[in-house]
Amino acid sequence: MSDQTIERVKTGIPGLDELIEGGFPRGDTILVAGKAGTGKSILATQFIYRGAKDYGEPGVLVTLEEPPQLIKRNMARFKMDLEGLEKDGMISIVDLSPSKEVTPVTIGEYPSFDLSGLEAIIMNHIKKIKAKRVVLDTLSIMAYKFRSRDILREEFFKLAATITKTGCTLLLTSEIPAQDQGLGVFDIEAFLASGVIVLYNEKISETSRSRSIEVLKLRGSKHSSRIHSMRITDEGIRVWPGEIGPGH
Ligand SMILES: Nc1ncnc2c1ncn2[C@@H]1O[C@H](COP(=O)(O)OP(=O)(O)O)[C@@H](O)[C@H]1O
Ligand SMILES: [Mg+2]
Repeated sequence: MSDQTIERVKTGIPGLDELIEGGFPRGDTILVAGKAGTGKSILATQFIYRGAKDYGEPGVLVTLEEPPQLIKRNMARFKMDLEGLEKDGMISIVDLSPSKEVTPVTIGEYPSFDLSGLEAIIMNHIKKIKAKRVVLDTLSIMAYKFRSRDILREEFFKLAATITKTGCTLLLTSEIPAQDQGLGVFDIEAFLASGVIVLYNEKISETSRSRSIEVLKLRGSKHSSRIHSMRITDEGIRVWPGEIGPGH
């Protein structure tokens, strides 16, 4: 039986809500981890797009890796028009990608390891569109700038707490280095998240790979403990709740 006291936020990923009692707990911090190319950015952007388009929830997409033009172009392949929603004030893209000529906050310039500049920018965007969803893609870029694990944990925790205090559901992505087993160096990020989802794209033979998704943890939820098949289709990411991924 599902717990009616926890309000659920529909993920916008077909098949995923069925694995997690209807959606992410509202106001929680969810980490999406996976190696390069596993679909983290697509999943995160689809969460923002579907939230705005289908569920009337404005969303802020903070991009630290890919420039907005590239994201818009790639998502258009899935018939997701980010630009239209941006014009309607339903989504707001915060461009902190390296390609931007003048970056409003330079993540690397923190002798004091302080993320308050970034926090202020995100909070402004949340207020501007009355956001209900926030995505930070990807946390890994920030993590490399911090030398101390303790300060890193403290700063991320503060940032996540400030964002979720507004009632927003926060989705963070984190890249697992190619050789790492498990979550590797990103255990810190897992620690601050109340939910962790892992994406895989494993080699199943000499000539093919297969995508799958695992809900590693989710606060207050009786989630699936299996690894489920996932595909990137012409409409974006889709999960097959009844299908168990290869080798699992
Ligand atoms: N239109 C598409 N159709 C099918 N697969 C796609 C499409 N666009 C991208 N992909 C797949 O998605 C991968 C990139 O997903 P992305 O979310 O950027 O990964 P990550 O953020 O985890 O590095 C590509 O490597 C490719 O395999
Ligand atoms: Mg990415």
